[in-house]
Amino acid sequence: MPHQTIKGFRASFLDTIADPFYAPESDCVRYFPDGLLVVENGKVKDLGSYEELQTKYADILISDYRDHLIVSGFIDTHIHFPQTEMIASYGEQLLEWLSTYTFPTERKFADRNYALEIASIFLDELLRNGTTTALVFTAVFPQSTDAFFEEAQRRNLRMIAGKVMMDRNAPEFLRDTAVSSYVETKQLIEKWHKCDRLLYAVTPRFALTSTPEQLTNISKLLVEFPDVYLHTHLSENVKEVEAVAAAFPESEGYLDVYDRAGLVGERSIFAHGVQLTDQEFARLSEAKSAIAFCPTSNLFLGSGLFKIEKAKSLETPVKVGLGTDVGAGTSFSILRTASAAYQVAQLRSQKLSAIQALFLATLGGARALCLEDKLGNFEVGKEADFVVLNLRSTPIMALRNKSFDSANLPTLTEISDQLFATIIMGDDRAIAATYIMGEKAEF
Ligand code: GUN
Ligand code: ZN
Repeated sequence: MPHQTIKGFRASFLDTIADPFYAPESDCVRYFPDGLLVVENGKVKDLGSYEELQTKYADILISDYRDHLIVSGFIDTHIHFPQTEMIASYGEQLLEWLSTYTFPTERKFADRNYALEIASIFLDELLRNGTTTALVFTAVFPQSTDAFFEEAQRRNLRMIAGKVMMDRNAPEFLRDTAVSSYVETKQLIEKWHKCDRLLYAVTPRFALTSTPEQLTNISKLLVEFPDVYLHTHLSENVKEVEAVAAAFPESEGYLDVYDRAGLVGERSIFAHGVQLTDQEFARLSEAKSAIAFCPTSNLFLGSGLFKIEKAKSLETPVKVGLGTDVGAGTSFSILRTASAAYQVAQLRSQKLSAIQALFLATLGGARALCLEDKLGNFEVGKEADFVVLNLRSTPIMALRNKSFDSANLPTLTEISDQLFATIIMGDDRAIAATYIMGEKAEF
């Protein structure tokens, strides 16, 4: 049978192909008001206007999503799966929040079956929100990492995760050691890294919870396995930064703790970076490291306003993705997260356009995770993970985002305006469907 594995999707399509923080938006996007996406064996085979492509693909089965906007799958560059159930825990800032809520919750993940149960809920929630790839903290227990990867593998997802490493400044029941964390992480890398679509991130919790010996062993792992990631927290909260300075008196600032240990490189992703100095932005730029901007979390924990304009400066450009940071973040939705990012930008007298937000949520995230060759837009050969957006998912959104006549479809300016309203007001109800490698995800 010809074309057995080929299928098509008819809808409006919008993707980013370059960074709209540095070039005119119209040069950074592709927009097909009435488009056809062709997927073969889970990868993008073609994207163009329906009119132009329909004869070439006359005999393939086409899913009709007209009156919907299809965008590339959302990428969450920082989230904690064991914190799913403790989202919205009241009243504390980072260090007290960790000891009051986080550590007792993460203790439960010593139980493999419990970890499997929550991993399943967590992944369904990501998919319900249109998130197809995430960089994920598991818990300190290797069985929690196994549970996460097993559930992600079952859903054929491209996920990056790692066991938390923490050998001090945490309750005994959550501590590993410099040696055990090295051995367990090595075993997990050998088991999961590049297994199907899964990738491994070496995951020290943050500077405060690692001894210098543990940091040394982490750098050994990065040398032994040069294509795994380094994923940790950085300069989130003022008291945290002070505590790091006291714990590492020889270091010249928070980033320098990681730098001296050899943890700052091209495959390093640092969550938050709210308190970074100009020199630290310059160093991250030089090292080609990435920052996960986690606005709902930074607001919820009162951490502060991330300086997006510093990360996106011409002088010291730093790769940036959006992170929900659940459970400190208040939503699994990248739409809600982008809405908070817009508001944070406004509080710093900056703007964040719909196209810039779409970039951060897709191609920007893919770049932050060094996955630009596989994800982030509909370039031919990339993995066909995508989201079908309903721009009119509630009565008020239908009022705000008026329907267009099929003979008079929206211009790029008009669809950008509707996307902006969907970012500001939208949530999981705006996600009509999520596709993984061209297959509709069930959740
Ligand atoms: N810093 C160290 N651990 C954590 C965590 O679990 N969440 C956040 N937001 N920051 C951290
Ligand atoms: Zn976090």
